[in-house]
Amino acid sequence: MTAQSPLPTGTDLLAEINRLRKERNAVILAHYYQTPDIQDLADFVGDSLQLSQMAAETDADVIAFCGVKFMADTAKILSPEKIVVLPDMDAGCSLEDSCPPDKFRAFREAHPDHIALTYINCSTEVKALSDVIVTSSSAETILQQIPKDQKIIFGPDRHLGGYLSRKFDREMLLWPGVCIVHEAFSETELLKLKEQYPGAPIAAHPECPPNIVDHADYVGSTSGILQFAETFTGDTLIVATEPHIIHQMEKALPNKNFIGAPGADGNCSCNICPYMALNTMEKLYACLRDLEPRIEIEEGLRLQAKRSLDKMLEMASGTIGQGDLGPA
Ligand code: 13P
Ligand code: SF4
Repeated sequence: MTAQSPLPTGTDLLAEINRLRKERNAVILAHYYQTPDIQDLADFVGDSLQLSQMAAETDADVIAFCGVKFMADTAKILSPEKIVVLPDMDAGCSLEDSCPPDKFRAFREAHPDHIALTYINCSTEVKALSDVIVTSSSAETILQQIPKDQKIIFGPDRHLGGYLSRKFDREMLLWPGVCIVHEAFSETELLKLKEQYPGAPIAAHPECPPNIVDHADYVGSTSGILQFAETFTGDTLIVATEPHIIHQMEKALPNKNFIGAPGADGNCSCNICPYMALNTMEKLYACLRDLEPRIEIEEGLRLQAKRSLDKMLEMASGTIGQGDLGPA
């Protein structure tokens, strides 16, 4: 059978996925932006940092990665001996697309005295050209370990970079990429929603533009937003990130009300990540069955990219001293 083989009619997908994951000794990792059916069957659901840590630590033979390609690439970079499959190889990311490696290399070369602090939402080639990778949950901890006088290039998300720059009063050269999902929230519609629910706090992801982040009571990664959801007082929370995360909130706090922040049309359907949405139960079943599509990375490139990822894993847990950084 190939990955394209049609499913036999009447296949019980959940039962088949459960059978195959045992047979393959596979671990299923899922991001919070995946659909509820996938989140509910995954062995682990997490943010980008937690998923990288899980991929580095698991002793499974196969990682079935329900997320986007840069996340599955990260799993392969950190666990090269494992088979890493992604249900749909077209599950990309607008931030990765915004940052072609040749242009990023030229940008770096034009600023030789800067280090490259790079958001994990980028290609393996861009990781290889970077000094330290960050995720939205590790960026603040890592930035604070970089000496104040060290010049920094931050890419590819200009909104996350701008947010960090304002919060820590650090000038950084920003790559002009954006997340199409977080870019789609409407400030006008958000303010209308706020009028409807006057006491409701807003939790926003730092990939949102400043005109959304400025209205937020909490700004943080997906796991940070989930923690905020578990601790806020009141009964309604407005959530300015990809709306599939609300599934976890509704499971943990069934008596509270979680509302996705609106896009320009007044609802949040435009904020569903079209890349994450490519992964389905059918494709997850097929990739466990066929062990395809599989992530493959050339060894020299992998080792180059691993340097900046390892640095992130070390610095995210505070195990590296200040002044340890220099340009790649
Ligand atoms: P985090 O889960 O790390 O906050 O990242 C959000 C995101 O956009 C992943 O693509
Ligand atoms: Fe990329 Fe945005 Fe989708 Fe995350 S939500 S994968 S940043 S396009």
